[in-house]
Amino acid sequence: MRILVLGSGGREHALTWKLEQSPFVDVVYCCPGNGGIKNSIPGDLSNFSNIRQIVTDLKIDLTIVGPEDPLAQGIVDDFHNHGLRIFGVNQQAAQLEASKAYSKDFMNRYGIKTAKHLSFNDASSAYDYCESIRYPHVIKADGLYKGKGVIIVESKEHAHATLDELYIENPKQVILFEDYLIGQEQSLICFVSNNKIIPLGTARDYKKRLENDQGLNTGGVGAYSPARSLPSNQNDQINNILRKIENGFVQEKILYNGILFIGFMIDDMDVYVLEFNARFGDPETQVLLARLQSDLLTIIEHCLDGTLTDDDIIMNDTFSLITVLMSKGYPDSFDIDKKIVLEDQGIVFHSGTKWIGQDLVTSGGRVLGVLETGHCLSMMHTKSLLRIEKIVFDGKQYRKDIGQLL
Ligand code: AMP
Ligand code: GLY
Repeated sequence: MRILVLGSGGREHALTWKLEQSPFVDVVYCCPGNGGIKNSIPGDLSNFSNIRQIVTDLKIDLTIVGPEDPLAQGIVDDFHNHGLRIFGVNQQAAQLEASKAYSKDFMNRYGIKTAKHLSFNDASSAYDYCESIRYPHVIKADGLYKGKGVIIVESKEHAHATLDELYIENPKQVILFEDYLIGQEQSLICFVSNNKIIPLGTARDYKKRLENDQGLNTGGVGAYSPARSLPSNQNDQINNILRKIENGFVQEKILYNGILFIGFMIDDMDVYVLEFNARFGDPETQVLLARLQSDLLTIIEHCLDGTLTDDDIIMNDTFSLITVLMSKGYPDSFDIDKKIVLEDQGIVFHSGTKWIGQDLVTSGGRVLGVLETGHCLSMMHTKSLLRIEKIVFDGKQYRKDIGQLL
């Protein structure tokens, strides 16, 4: 079978790496790919006819979508209209990620516990609202912001400054205010096969840029899997949430086929849903696929056929850990085109890398993911720090507590 993966991050490198291990796969291409993915081919993911042309030219049997933008723009619907096989959710289902206002309303309609929120279409009501809330509070810009449209504001002044910035960028921006929740986050990545949710596994994602979970939100700068195990009453709460989501799909007449990624906030008592994503997480996918024993293509085929069951998914009984190396400045603006010296012998998933002539150089904020697997997270943490020292590029940054801060 000939496969095309769409996207250019560490998630896509991990997907191509795992698919290449399948006995049923002849070749895996990736568009646009990156410096670490062997068969990277240029293309514009917002131009569906361009992608369909690539599918025809390369005789692709199945396309697998990584990032959220093409899903939200309807690439799956477009491929189906042209009789092409594709793995990902349709445009209607992608709304669960693309609009935070829609997904919060969905949670409320189906009794899924989440932070209380209010959304505002006009600026003056949003500014007024800052007078009446308790701080810290959470402000979210509606839409797709790659994990960076969420700001935790500490005071009224901070809230005003945040609104100023968001409205300068987009005067019509829909703004959500959310109660600030305290607890530990966990990501649960699931396959959804004809509206039935089949979990792949959990991961602890490190979203904050700095050690000790301080600093700005990012797309995720490290992860390990599985996340810490939960008491049975909280597992029951999670199972309950999954059933409510399935019921929501039916009631809303959504046909959900693809990936559902649920971000939970878990305190001593309760499990809250922070967000839904309609795609594989990054870097979560890197750590989850490193633990997946089963054949990924078979899982995807069964998911597409609507026959996927829990028995199709077997995970190794080990930990996996990813530490992301970043460009200086990320998640704000950062320099690129820095030469990378990468003589590491272990598995390193590429994100923001490309080739200029004979040189591998940086091309994004998140550059490389250093993978460790094993039975002891603290030993894996030490080993990954030793490996990272040997990977060199100008401005290299990383969190030193990934896998240590649990
Ligand atoms: P989201 O894109 O909505 O998941 O938000 C990105 C990140 O912001 C989350 O992973 C949390 O770290 C943080 N966050 C979002 N909403 C809240 C909330 N209500 N309370 C505390 N932290 C939050
Ligand atoms: N790591 C979080 C995400 O993929 O959105």
